Amino acid sequence: MTAAIEVIGLTKTYGDLRAVDGVDLTVGEGEFVGILGPNGAGKTTLLEMVEGLREPTAGSASVLGLPAWPRNAALLPRIGVQLQASSFFERLTAREQIHTFASLYGVAASRADEWLERVGLVEKADSRVEQLSGGQAQRLSIACALVHDPEVVFLDEPTAALDPQARRNLWDLLSGINDSGRTVVLTTHYMDEAEALADRVAIMDHGKLLVFDTPAALIHGLDAPTRITLTDGEVLTTREPAVEIARLAEQSRLDGVRVQTGTLEDVFLDLTGREYRA
Ligand SMILES: Nc1ncnc2c1ncn2[C@@H]1O[C@H](COP(=O)(O)OP(=O)(O)O)[C@@H](O)[C@H]1O
Ligand SMILES: [Mg+2]
Repeated sequence: MTAAIEVIGLTKTYGDLRAVDGVDLTVGEGEFVGILGPNGAGKTTLLEMVEGLREPTAGSASVLGLPAWPRNAALLPRIGVQLQASSFFERLTAREQIHTFASLYGVAASRADEWLERVGLVEKADSRVEQLSGGQAQRLSIACALVHDPEVVFLDEPTAALDPQARRNLWDLLSGINDSGRTVVLTTHYMDEAEALADRVAIMDHGKLLVFDTPAALIHGLDAPTRITLTDGEVLTTREPAVEIARLAEQSRLDGVRVQTGTLEDVFLDLTGREYRA
């Protein structure tokens, strides 16, 4: 696996605060990585150093083999950075926004229109950005970040404040982007989002990366027993769920059974000793 992103000892301090504290992270080409952590964990600071938008206090980050800092002009056309919805150009329509981004990158206007379609904004193309809903603005910002077909895509809490349906639509869009071979790094404070989308999840708290692995491996590493709840309310806990389920099947007691393994929330609790509060 070739590294798309290589982060070594990356650190950012603000006075006494270690916002990002010695983070090491390697992301492979084509990987979908979720950086998960509660508010204030240091996710945005980490991401912005990797994007070349903030200067590290110590350590280094490289993207596609090139150093991220000082801001690297050679990297800009190869990476996509999702802008906050508030960073659109004022008074432009959705179509004008994305056409502006396209022309900055030398991309044909027709490709920009394709992106409007892909994110479901054709009907809103002539609306000014101030008139878009939160979800529509979010989708436009993602389309603007992707219009030049970047190899590596960074998204900072792209689904924050979206309703559940809009979140699901965005998940599909992001999965599709990753399926087409791009490397995606997304921050989120939603456990379910990290679990659903990411090949590997980095859990961050107080500026430190606590773990970085597949959701399944993180949960498996907990060695928490599986809970099997039967329709009559009986709860079985077992470390051999397959054996237990086979036994229930033999007894024709499998109907309506719920099987619960650990969750990333349990992983966080195990690592930090406290409940996860986004
Ligand atoms: N420019 C800044 N000046 C001072 N403190 C900052 C600055 N940016 C971030 N911080 C602090 O660094 C910590 C991490 O912030 P941030 O990276 O935004 O976390 P997250 O994105 O995980 O919510 C927080 O305690 C935040 O208040
Ligand atoms: Mg943030």
